[in-house]
Formats: sequence, C-alpha cells, structure tokens
Amino acid sequence: MKQKIMSGMRPTGKLHLGHYLGVIDNWVKLQDEYDCYFSVADWHALTTKYDKTETMKEDVLNVVMDWLACGIDPDKATIYVQSLVPETAELHVYLSMITPQNWVERDPTLKDMAKILKSKEGMASQINYGLMGYPVLMTADILTFNAECVPVGIDQVAHVELSRDIVRRFNHIYNTDFFNEPQPKLNNCSLICGLDGNKMGKSFNNDIKISDTEEVTAKKVMSAITDRSRMRKDDPGHPEDCEVAFKYWTIFGNENEIETVKCECEKGLRGCADCKRQLGAKINERLEKIREKRRYYEENPEEVEKIIREGSERARKEAQKVLAEVRKIVRMY
Ligand code: TRP
Ligand code: SF4
Repeated sequence: MKQKIMSGMRPTGKLHLGHYLGVIDNWVKLQDEYDCYFSVADWHALTTKYDKTETMKEDVLNVVMDWLACGIDPDKATIYVQSLVPETAELHVYLSMITPQNWVERDPTLKDMAKILKSKEGMASQINYGLMGYPVLMTADILTFNAECVPVGIDQVAHVELSRDIVRRFNHIYNTDFFNEPQPKLNNCSLICGLDGNKMGKSFNNDIKISDTEEVTAKKVMSAITDRSRMRKDDPGHPEDCEVAFKYWTIFGNENEIETVKCECEKGLRGCADCKRQLGAKINERLEKIREKRRYYEENPEEVEKIIREGSERARKEAQKVLAEVRKIVRMY
C-alpha cells in the first residue's frame, strides 16, 4: 500500500511563484508515489480572517485552479476543502483535550503569527482561541487520514513537530498505536524571493502570480532589483550581488544561459534592461502551459467545483473510517 501524504494551504486567493516553486511543484512530483491528500485549509484562514470572509469562496476556487493548472491531478491526488470534511473538526475536539496549553503557547510559528497580528492592529487585536489551536487543527488535518508524511515549508516544520508530540501523547493516554507519528518532509525546492529581494508574499506587493498575464509578468520582471552598484550598462556587473534578477536566472535558465548571463554581465557586455527583458521571456516560457490550463479552468468553473466536491467526498469517506476508530479508542458512546 502507498504511504499517505497530507498537506494543505490556506486560501489566500491567487497564488504566486513562491507557492508554485516552493510547494506545488513538489506536490506534483509526490502524487505519483504517494496517496496524497491536499487540503484548502479554509478553517485555518478563519483563524485570522474570521471577519473578512466575503472573498472566501472565490479564494478557495482560485487556489484549486492554480493547483490544477500547475499539474495536481485529481485522478491521482485527493483535492479537498477542509470545511467539507467535518470529521476533522470532531478529531480536533479530541486532540484539543489531550494537548497541554503550554505546548501550543510554545509553538514558535504561532508566536510569530501573534506578534505580526499585534503589530498590525495595535492594542485592539486579541489572539483568539481558534488561533491558539492552529497547530492542533493542523494535527487534526494530518490525522484525519493518519498520514505518515507531511511535505511543508520550513516555516511549518515546528507545527508538524508538535503534531508528533500530540500523537505520542494520544497513543500513550489511550494505550494504542493507532496513529502514525507524521514525518515532516521539507520541500526541496528553490526558494524564490520577491521582486524587491524580500520574501515573496501577496501582502508585500512583490510577487508574480501564476495567473498574471505575459505582459504583466514582463513588466514586473523589469522592476526586479539588480546589482545596485552598477550605474551604466557597460560597467562590469556583479551577478552575485544582483539580488533578484540573477537569482531568477539561476532558477529559470539552463546551465548555458546562466553561464552566458554571468560572463556577459561581468564583462559589461549586458545591460540590465536587456537582461531582464530576456529573463521575463524565459519566465513566461516556463509558465505558458500552466496559464493555458488555468484559462481553461477559469472558463469552466463548474468543472473545478465538481473536482472539489468529488475530492471532498473521497476525503470524507477516508475520514469517517479513521473517526470511527478514534471514537472507539476514546470510548465515546
Ligand atoms: N498551516 C499551513 C500553512 O499555512 C497549511 C496547512 C493546513 C497544512 N493544514 C495543514 C500544512 C496540514 C500541512 C498539513 O502553510
Ligand atoms: Fe543582474 Fe543581468 Fe544586470 Fe547583470 S546584467 S546585474 S545579471 S540584471
């Protein structure tokens, strides 16, 4: 039997190249070898955006369209929406009873999230009960399928570590070995920075979206920062100090192209504007098929709806089996 993988993403709307290269591309590779469950974590989105739900439905759809466009195949992997599998909420209740409060208070990612929230909204903001349960809910996601393996970015590893602690405690308290200790599996993909050299993120206005048009992409790439010490185009450049454009070349170019860019830049034979024009074309080439596929789903949203409904049904059937077992183990009525 194939090993089970579970992972998820919050519905933040249209995804960017950081999501594609850092997460989705990795999932695409895993879907052949593992029994994969990929969740749009709409409850997790609620932990911080409970009062901004106007775009929730649209955001979920956009995330799934991006996944499909990038190559997640609903015949291989189970794509589902978290809130359409209520068994996860039930499991969350059981897990919340056995998770000591100081375990969640220690969670470093949660501490960071709390800090960001506080700085954004000042004194008025409070950390709600649901947000404190963020890693416990994530554990419930993973255990809903009793998954062995959880591919995540480095920022989520602490949460998965906590999941392992919760599993050990559950198994110990109820004297069982039912739950597997989930293994975090670090996404081994290139980390792409934003156009300004910081982490790529929607809220930083420095991202290239998977769904951006060729024109928009080309224009955005022209705004990428380069070797700042370079004043004229025949000055010798320093690719290693070209914080964004050259880094993008190393991700999107082949070996020859990278070498040519490097040589020409160092010799002052390559202007930054030309260099970025070429780079934009290169990125567009890589995204062409993905965008074509995305347009197809945009024109056929009912097909996406169907994929979501069927995936969630399938996920739910698995979840019901696990929950039946859990109810027995906890000795519920
Ligand atoms: N918290 C994850 C993130 O923000 C998303 C997520 C939700 C997840 N449930 C999960 C990841 C379960 C892995 C496993 O990226
Ligand atoms: Fe960067 Fe290209 Fe300019 Fe060199 S020529 S500094 S690699 S953008």
